[in-house]
Amino acid sequence: MPEGHSPSITRRLHPSEATGRWTGARHGLPKAYGQTDLVVLGIGVMIGAGIFSLAGRQAATMAGPGVILSFMIAGITSLLVAFCIAELSSAMPASGSAYTFTYVIFGEVWAWIVGWALVMELLLAAAVVARVWSLYAAQMLGDFGVRLPEPLSGVVGQPEGFDLFTLLILVLLTGVVALGARIGLRTLWIIVIAKLVAIGAVIVVGATHFDQANLAAIPAPSTPIKTAGGTLDSPLLGLVFGQSTAFGWFGIFAAAATITFAYIGFDVVATAAEEAEDAPRSVPRGIIRSLVATTVIYITVAVVMVGMTSYDKIDAAAPLASAFRRAGEGFMVHIINIGAVLGLTTVVLVLLVGLTRVIFSMARDGLFPRPLAKINRSYHSPTRATLVIGGTAILLAEFVPVLTLESLVVIGTLFAFVAVGAGVIRMRRTMPDLPRGFRTPLSPFVPIASIMASLWLMVNLQVITWLYFIAWMAFGVLVYLLYGRRNSVLAGGQPPLEPPAGLRGRHRR
Ligand code: ALA
Repeated sequence: MPEGHSPSITRRLHPSEATGRWTGARHGLPKAYGQTDLVVLGIGVMIGAGIFSLAGRQAATMAGPGVILSFMIAGITSLLVAFCIAELSSAMPASGSAYTFTYVIFGEVWAWIVGWALVMELLLAAAVVARVWSLYAAQMLGDFGVRLPEPLSGVVGQPEGFDLFTLLILVLLTGVVALGARIGLRTLWIIVIAKLVAIGAVIVVGATHFDQANLAAIPAPSTPIKTAGGTLDSPLLGLVFGQSTAFGWFGIFAAAATITFAYIGFDVVATAAEEAEDAPRSVPRGIIRSLVATTVIYITVAVVMVGMTSYDKIDAAAPLASAFRRAGEGFMVHIINIGAVLGLTTVVLVLLVGLTRVIFSMARDGLFPRPLAKINRSYHSPTRATLVIGGTAILLAEFVPVLTLESLVVIGTLFAFVAVGAGVIRMRRTMPDLPRGFRTPLSPFVPIASIMASLWLMVNLQVITWLYFIAWMAFGVLVYLLYGRRNSVLAGGQPPLEPPAGLRGRHRR
């Protein structure tokens, strides 16, 4: 049972309250996902801007062929974290994911902090990927020879300022999510398969142009990682060592930190837990299987990309397409454009779904306004929360230069990863008998390694990223003090939410 009206610093949610496994009280969302759906969900949200855009940019400017190692480092870190998330979500299959785990294990204040970081991660990621979608969609039309009317040409495919395609994709996908996962899930399957076919073509055709000499051209550590912003653009680690350089090991680690963006999404699978069949088993499997598949795909694409073309000839603006164009495979440019447009669509879709579930959970606990936890009777979905989130993502994507903020997405994610690793260690001590469908192997070694690896990647992010992150979190603490602390259900600020009659236990496919 809840611990009553204790001071906010000690308020913790009881595991049975988090999951409703015994009471069913918290299950307001109908079941929508089977085991394979969760793997598709994971692949749908992970494979996107990270491989279609970031990978080439990092190879060209930061790591050279060492970008393969960067993908391995970020992949291993993600796998360590995935084991931990798998255990926590198998014990507490709740849509709040890391937010809810932290609420049960560490208490309300820490939960809010982690939830606030998750909101930044998912909201900003959706805005960033919607922008990249627009760039690729405009590129695709151009490559097919479609000429847009003059007044439109200045407002599509823009990296900054008002952009019509960014607006369209966010409005469309917000609508799809608001109408419930039913439409989203069918669409997701088809698009994910199409995206995998495009990636498969990149690997197979790219491999025919593979030249080992390109991999051997390892650049020496050179330019200091500082640009217009001086020290602010240097990795935090660079301050400790006086200076860090592009290429060499500094460059490989800096690229690994940025490339973590490509793996973002396996954590989002956990937010589907309340809608998954047999969640204690299916969610851990969904998380780990989708991550392993994605890691193998990424490393293979990275090998092909830097094997096809020398790193100093990679066009950072359109890395994959330009590599194939140079190789005389013009047809592949269309495949890549189509694959990217489809692939990025599912990324934004699932990010919006995941964020909706986190906000829904936080509102259900009283930490965000209650109307955001309302499930629409017709669509069986938190429609109101979805519309608020979609509107905010649109404002963010249109009025903030989000393409410069990818690292902020990463730091929010890594912060939540640290909380997850710490959560496993503490839960083993404080709740050893809580039933779990999955156990992290080699605990506490794996959780400790996941914390260390996440922290290591965090210190490889830029000083400016840290400053923005600290500012966002300080704002979050203020919001909690002014709103959540008083309105929390555990504080007695409002009564627990009952699920709408008729929805409990309902299955929907
Ligand atoms: N992992 C997702 C992408 O790379 C966010 O687009």
